[in-house]
Amino acid sequence: MGVVLSFEDRVPGAEASLDDLVGLVRDDMERVNRLIVSRTGSRVTMIPEVANHLISSGGKRLRPMLTLATASLAGYGGDGHVSLAAAVEFMHTATLLHDDVVDASTMRRGKIAARLKWGNEASVLVGDFLLGQAFKMMVEVGSLPALAILSSAATIIAEGEVLQLAAAKHVETNEDEYLAVIRGKTAELFAAACEVGPVIAGRPKAELAACRSYGMNLGIAFQLVDDALDYGGTASALGKNVGDDFREGKITLPIVLCYRRGDEPEREFWRRTLERGEIGEGDVERALGILRRHRAIEDTVERARHYGKMARDALALFPGSPMKSALLGAVDFCIGRAH
Ligand code: IPE
Ligand code: IPE
Ligand code: MG
Ligand code: MG
Repeated sequence: MGVVLSFEDRVPGAEASLDDLVGLVRDDMERVNRLIVSRTGSRVTMIPEVANHLISSGGKRLRPMLTLATASLAGYGGDGHVSLAAAVEFMHTATLLHDDVVDASTMRRGKIAARLKWGNEASVLVGDFLLGQAFKMMVEVGSLPALAILSSAATIIAEGEVLQLAAAKHVETNEDEYLAVIRGKTAELFAAACEVGPVIAGRPKAELAACRSYGMNLGIAFQLVDDALDYGGTASALGKNVGDDFREGKITLPIVLCYRRGDEPEREFWRRTLERGEIGEGDVERALGILRRHRAIEDTVERARHYGKMARDALALFPGSPMKSALLGAVDFCIGRAH
């Protein structure tokens, strides 16, 4: 779309990076990466080809880092967190392969989407393979409670994606419905990734709930910012195309807010472009103009800040430590992506 909206109310820490977290989990993350590469192998050569296309393109590895970090925060001393972190990243990779088919996306992690190179069928099936591998790794860890958390996350992610299908092109979607979608499709995996660390460390319920709440609220903030960036970011920074949500008729919070705040001609504009998919020349610019008029991107980022604060407060019961500071820094990073 080529138009970059400027965000007001810049917060200190907007330039925050994940460096502290990356530094503190570096050794464990190397083990996770080795495990990830070793578990993409198959005699069926198309499987490692498709999987490695996506895995070698990087990605932030945010979710497995959260598993490693929360395990360490909980004082875990074993090896299970490495396998669980790899399983979490495999679940994420599987959902990306599936999601790009569902969304007909053309770019992922700065590269051509796997579905355009190998087809939708291969993307779906290799996604299933990775999901199967994720569950094998969880079983190897042998913690039934961790398996329960991650398997229920897998079903909730799928529910979130299906719920989003039902809401697609429905411009009257309200904020609660939107939140239910992003809790399911995105935040649940963040929550599960953060809960399994203290679970395998055998920590008390209050600590599990705290880590889960941190992950859930961080995940909501993360997706809110991602949805803001779909209108206000750049493809080079995001590694995926900007404006996809508009072209697809996906109803994200910036649209929910504009529809509610708009007058009848604006509402008719959203019905034509998003519900009926009649997008012509100048419509992207008009959409951006309406978003600007209603401060919809800024307010979406403001909502993200609110969930970010909840994530921070959730960790209050843990004493100060470099790992806790790094997890708080991850919140700033997720919000700071909007700047
Ligand atoms: C992409 O997640 C999917 C969303 C929930 C928006 P990430 O932005 O964490 O993807 P990678 O792993 O870094 O590519
Ligand atoms: C990401 O949803 C959530 C999952 C992958 C389950 P989106 O469709 O909003 O994310 P992007 O924009 O493709 O990364
Ligand atoms: Mg998508
Ligand atoms: Mg999607």
